[in-house]
Amino acid sequence: MCSPLSLNSTITQQKLATPFSLRALFKTLAISSLILVLFYILFFDKSNNYQLSNLLETFKQSFPAATTCPVSHPPTNFSHIVIGIVGSMKTWKQKKAYIEAWWQPNVTRGYLFLDRAPTKQFLPWPSSFPPFRVNEDITGLKVYPKIVSPVQVRIVRTVLETFREGDKDVRWYVMADDDTVLVVDNLVDVLAKYDHKKYHYIGTSSECIKSNFDFSFDMAFGGAGYALSYPLVAALSTKLDQCIERYPYLRVSDFMLHECLTDFGVSLTQEKGFHQIDLHGDISGLLSSHPQSPFLSLHHLDAVDPIFPSMNRSESVNHLMKAAKVDPSRLLQQTICYHRPSNWSFSISWGYSAHIYENVIPRSTLQRPLETFRPYKKNVRPPFYMFNTRWPSNDPCKAPHVFYFDSIDQSVEGNKTVTTYSRVAPRGLLPCSSSGNHSADFITKIKVYSLPEIRLEVRGKNCCDIAHAADINTTQVIYRSCMDSEIIA
Ligand SMILES: *[C@@H]1O[C@H](CO)[C@@H](O)[C@H](O)[C@H]1NC(C)=O
Ligand SMILES: *[C@@H]1O[C@H](CO)[C@@H](O)[C@H](O)[C@H]1NC(C)=O
Ligand SMILES: *[C@@H]1O[C@H](CO)[C@@H](O)[C@H](O)[C@H]1NC(C)=O
Ligand SMILES: *[C@@H]1O[C@H](CO)[C@@H](O)[C@H](O)[C@H]1NC(C)=O
Ligand SMILES: *[C@@H]1O[C@H](CO)[C@@H](O)[C@H](O)[C@H]1NC(C)=O
Ligand SMILES: *[C@@H]1O[C@H](CO)[C@@H](O)[C@H](O)[C@H]1NC(C)=O
Ligand SMILES: *[C@@H]1O[C@H](CO)[C@@H](O)[C@H](O)[C@H]1NC(C)=O
Repeated sequence: MCSPLSLNSTITQQKLATPFSLRALFKTLAISSLILVLFYILFFDKSNNYQLSNLLETFKQSFPAATTCPVSHPPTNFSHIVIGIVGSMKTWKQKKAYIEAWWQPNVTRGYLFLDRAPTKQFLPWPSSFPPFRVNEDITGLKVYPKIVSPVQVRIVRTVLETFREGDKDVRWYVMADDDTVLVVDNLVDVLAKYDHKKYHYIGTSSECIKSNFDFSFDMAFGGAGYALSYPLVAALSTKLDQCIERYPYLRVSDFMLHECLTDFGVSLTQEKGFHQIDLHGDISGLLSSHPQSPFLSLHHLDAVDPIFPSMNRSESVNHLMKAAKVDPSRLLQQTICYHRPSNWSFSISWGYSAHIYENVIPRSTLQRPLETFRPYKKNVRPPFYMFNTRWPSNDPCKAPHVFYFDSIDQSVEGNKTVTTYSRVAPRGLLPCSSSGNHSADFITKIKVYSLPEIRLEVRGKNCCDIAHAADINTTQVIYRSCMDSEIIA
């Protein structure tokens, strides 16, 4: 993946690196100068008839592998990740369905940390759940009398206790709550971009400005899940209790960890696929305009409406996982295309929803979530969110026809994956008049065809075409790669 001979792969790597890393900046400068030099040699220095091999030789000499690439190691896979889940006996009955939705028994590595041993009702502990551990008793700590929130200290020490399990060949520790749904395959893809031998703290802030303001805009919210590289956890494990001694007055474990890591000189790297969901109500607007980034987690599912309106909460999550199991990297990725003969816009959130607008709406607008949800805290003043939104409208030219993920079928010729989205309710509006009165009321199903071989990195640039099916009430959306420099408007 990181061969010094391949300009392509170097550039890809550079794109994937943290935007603010100095190394990336250095690389950009180095590559730019190299390109300038090559350009000069090729076009101005006519006396020298360089062959391609000479150029590559020059390249190799200027950039020996060791200086530009991390030491090579086998790619990060599923088994390099150990997950520490924080739970409590009191809420386990209600939360266990969320863990069952994503935990793969005997495949996923990790533990569920509880505040006390499971009661008889839950024993024998099924092997379909993560093995449980009971958090250490902290009342013996010297600092204990000064600790303002013992529960939060228990939670932050779960990082340490997960590390003390002594698992072998760990590259990343991922911490999550008992009501966090994780897509571990996508975590593998995302974490593989980072050098696990360095210190990394990867997560996300809250959707709500106020929550971040109250703590830190650079803090990972634990419910969304966050990842710490092995060496960082190893170092932290010797220093965490000292850190708790410095900050016994802090009331929130995530903030305590943030303070400790900041003292270590480590800052947060944001990944857009983690979702804290500090929201209430209907989050379909958010999930229908997900940024182009692998979907990693979903949290606070008890605080929001079921994500599929015809199902209860646990059924909803299991339903989403049907698509996740087939093609996790595509889950919730938004693809937009237009049907000119009817002036319709399509916005597909793969495995979740499909929207038809009876008007040609710019991508920049469709990428803004419809504000179907409310902030987590009451009595806060706008602006509420860390991202732009659109206000839901009853204007027939702005309101979508909404279809939700219904089924997935892989067994179709040509290796296509077909996801079907069904209308749950009539839109109940007149057609959009200014774009020609082309009603989409008669469409009941949308079938989306995608090919598995389109690589993850280029999926952000997916384009699609619209075709009518034999069944008049079904529309087909066929994904394809965008052509070079295609204006996808
Ligand atoms: C993951 O990679 C390691 C090498 O680091 C290898 O030994 C192991 O078999 C791989 N596991 C899976 C599940 O591919
Ligand atoms: C997990 O592995 C254990 C021991 O190999 C086995 O007894 C158990 O049935 C497995 N559990 C599941 C859910 O596959
Ligand atoms: C959700 O629906 C499933 C299947 O119908 C059912 O087994 C489960 O008990 C329901 N859960 C709740 C919390 O109502
Ligand atoms: C479908 O996938 C199989 C195995 O990956 C491959 O051999 C075959 O050529 C593919 N078929 C088409 C039509 O792409
Ligand atoms: C599409 O909408 C434009 C106005 O936005 C209109 O001029 C044009 O006639 C419409 N096209 C069709 C096929 O209705
Ligand atoms: C759409 O229909 C309305 C009402 O029937 C009509 O007034 C309007 O002119 C039509 N618009 C177009 C662009 O045909
Ligand atoms: C299917 O489309 C036809 C033709 O537009 C329409 O008359 C019919 O009502 C539609 N069926 C449903 C179930 O919407």
